[in-house]
Amino acid sequence: MMKVLAVCLGNICRSPAAQGILEHLAREKGLDLQVESSGTAAYHVGKLPDARSIKILKSVGIDITQQRARQVCVEDFNEFDWIVAMDSENLTNLKHIQPLNSKAKVVMFGRYRNGIDFGEVDDPYYGGDLGFEAMKDQLFTIAEDFLANAYE
Ligand code: 4NP
Repeated sequence: MMKVLAVCLGNICRSPAAQGILEHLAREKGLDLQVESSGTAAYHVGKLPDARSIKILKSVGIDITQQRARQVCVEDFNEFDWIVAMDSENLTNLKHIQPLNSKAKVVMFGRYRNGIDFGEVDDPYYGGDLGFEAMKDQLFTIAEDFLANAYE
């Protein structure tokens, strides 16, 4: 079984959506995948995902309302096979707290393979619904590519 941790800043917009999409695609493909999400910041610990993320995923049949925000911790680096960051600031913060010789591969979700770059997943928190729609589409593209290649 492979374990993936999706990480953004607040763990209420992007990484809960990434978790829901990865779980959905893994189920469709019959993959043995366990997914969690977390944030580099603690502002929203214990909260439901943002209502706009819940809504946009519900529109494609994915329910993320069982998720609650948590902050990334040092144990995560030996618990998960992959820790995937939504943007380069998340990645920098993760690298700062990553213990030496830990198990997880810590990478950008959108460009974890050489030569392929689906870009950073921009923070949609301060924008409108269009940003959440774009986030959802980008996460589907990245998640499909990730699952097609992460098992290599
Ligand atoms: P997320 O979005 O990192 O995708 O969950 C954000 C949520 C909240 C804040 C920033 C980004 N915030 O500053 O409260």
